[in-house]
Amino acid sequence: MQDNWPITTIWSFPDHGKWATHDSKYRGNWSPYVPRNLIKKYSKPKDIVLDQFVGSGTTLIEAQLLNRTSIGVDINDKALKITRAKLKFLSSTHSKIYLRKGNAKKLEFIPNNSIDLICTHPPYANIIKYSKNIKGDSSLIHPKDFQGELRLIATEAYRVLKPNKFCTIMIGDVRNNGKLYPLGFQLLNCFQETGFHLKEIIIKEQHNCKGTKKWANKTLSFYLLAHEYIFIFQK
Ligand SMILES: C[S@@+](CC[C@H](N)C(=O)[O-])C[C@H]1O[C@@H](n2cnc3c(N)ncnc32)[C@H](O)[C@@H]1O
Repeated sequence: MQDNWPITTIWSFPDHGKWATHDSKYRGNWSPYVPRNLIKKYSKPKDIVLDQFVGSGTTLIEAQLLNRTSIGVDINDKALKITRAKLKFLSSTHSKIYLRKGNAKKLEFIPNNSIDLICTHPPYANIIKYSKNIKGDSSLIHPKDFQGELRLIATEAYRVLKPNKFCTIMIGDVRNNGKLYPLGFQLLNCFQETGFHLKEIIIKEQHNCKGTKKWANKTLSFYLLAHEYIFIFQK
């Protein structure tokens, strides 16, 4: 693995990152460089790291490699199965990993003020639908209704995080039927209204986006979205 430690608020990882069991097969997964950098900067060894939208487990793999205890939650059994398989390479000496099915809007199995770092990556409204009809799946919500979803996610994140600790979260804006929905700005508002203090806004360049490729070589009346936001909030 080649470490890549950005020092500015613009991040770009063209090679995705292929160490351990990382790959880019899970649709919309994040580059392991993202959680690796966030976990290193905003937590310390033995801390408890939560990813409540765990997907294919990228965050948990990095938390383990960096000797953090980790909690992964996903509403979809398929994601949990993939994550379980990806964590198998770890030896028996790794830190504790708790992986369970759940809803990021209602993490009743996690006590108040118990998490040292949230490092997570929710769906960008329904731009990628991770299920057809799982109740509570945030990836089924139309962008016009996503702000309500973000408010519930923020409230629960605030509840479980220890005071003064950090919540790091990546999201992108989406275009739907010619309309731009600024999910990044909506998320920022919801998290600040919930009580979080804003520490950083990082702009991340997007690479190899399947949605972008289909527009390549066409004359367009709009610019292709090629950035995401990583917000760092403090409780
Ligand atoms: C963008 S993906 C996360 C990808 C992950 N960062 C990775 O690298 O694999 C979002 C995940 O959130 C899950 N999800 C959607 N709604 C959820 C909810 N309300 N609670 C928990 N997980 C949810 C989806 O099943 C999907 O796996």
